[in-house]
Amino acid sequence: MSKLGTPLSPTATRVMLLGSGELGKEVIIALQRLGVETIAVDRYANAPGQQVAHHAHTITMSDPDQLKALIKAEKPDLVVPEIEAIATEALEELESAGLARVIPTARATRLTMNREGIRSLAAETLSLPTSPYAFCDSLEALQAAIDGGIGYPCVVKPVMSSSGKGQSKIDGPADVAAAWQYAMSGGRVSHGRIIVEGFVDFDYEITLLTVRARGEDGQIETHFCEPIGHLQEAGDYIESWQPQPMHPRALQQSKHIAQAVTDNLGGQGVFGVELFIKGEEVWFSEVSPRPHDTGLVTMISQWQSEFELHARAILGLPVDTRLRTPGASAVIYGGVDGENIVFDGVDAAMRVPQTDLRLFGKPESYERRRMGVALGYDDNIDGARQRARQAAACVKGKKA
Ligand SMILES: Nc1ncnc2c1ncn2[C@@H]1O[C@H](COP(=O)(O)OP(=O)(O)OP(=O)(O)O)[C@@H](O)[C@H]1O
Ligand SMILES: [Mg+2]
Repeated sequence: MSKLGTPLSPTATRVMLLGSGELGKEVIIALQRLGVETIAVDRYANAPGQQVAHHAHTITMSDPDQLKALIKAEKPDLVVPEIEAIATEALEELESAGLARVIPTARATRLTMNREGIRSLAAETLSLPTSPYAFCDSLEALQAAIDGGIGYPCVVKPVMSSSGKGQSKIDGPADVAAAWQYAMSGGRVSHGRIIVEGFVDFDYEITLLTVRARGEDGQIETHFCEPIGHLQEAGDYIESWQPQPMHPRALQQSKHIAQAVTDNLGGQGVFGVELFIKGEEVWFSEVSPRPHDTGLVTMISQWQSEFELHARAILGLPVDTRLRTPGASAVIYGGVDGENIVFDGVDAAMRVPQTDLRLFGKPESYERRRMGVALGYDDNIDGARQRARQAAACVKGKKA
């Protein structure tokens, strides 16, 4: 797309976001700045991205009929999934009929929405290093897989889940039944299939943001951002920072893995490649074919955030992945359950030098719902992390 049109006119370049949370909101803002007409879709009204888009729709995105009807009615130039829980078979159908261009590709969205698809691709087709794993449909099969080689400790996850839902660690035989039960209650669709993975005793984990964008000659080029380190709690990220210092050989291997996975998935845009690192050794964990939550840090640490990179890459425009400064992000949770909450301490947060803040504007808060993020920068990672944490701690959700 070398030409961009005028929004709300017949020449408009129109982009539809499927999922309009905090990540989609930032992609939409980046698109808005280029005069792209945006259509924000979510499962609930007034989602963050819907508040900044030209058009908003509220549908059940996992329902293929609703999804197909909306795409056919809106006829966007690009369909950009922001979440995993989408009727990806409907996207494949529309893409192969030439009725939609899906970012990065409909196949990539199908493979990554299910842990089985992406793990089989990475470990079996591409022979990339991963934790040992097995897929199981019953408690008996899970026990047999553990006894048959996965061993303890290990991690159980529903094949269709994200943000740590239904995921737990098993330290010994006494934990197996509870982990199975927990996984059954936490999956996206309760079809009773899980992955059990050997626990990787990593030194640290990273997200390697990898961008597939068109070069001057029209060919796809792969660009890497500096590695992002992050801290997870209960399968959800709480802090991230960039750049994560790495052994040069571990970084080289990380790029090799990210290149192999993203070459296979194809298309254009940002990918968040999740990797575990121990010394010089690297394991592939999973990949998001879209901006990654730990990449929120790039809003302060890069010249072009992952959201701007995604907007540019999907439109066929040039990208620049260079770091601007060491930076960090710290998640702000709601702290309370309720609708239309108010935030105290925003002023105090903004008095922390070298920080910035985003409040996502979600209409409903839960105690552990991500409602905002604090960003900090410094000439070193520790300083940046401290600033981001300090600013985040100032902000408190309160019932209205
Ligand atoms: N095999 C493993 N060994 C050690 N730690 C693991 C393993 N699998 C997952 N973890 C830890 O749990 C976190 C979440 O796992 P994973 O990314 O697979 O789940 P998720 O639900 O897809 O999370 P998200 O959607 O937030 O990325 C990882 O970032 C890592 O910290
Ligand atoms: Mg993950």
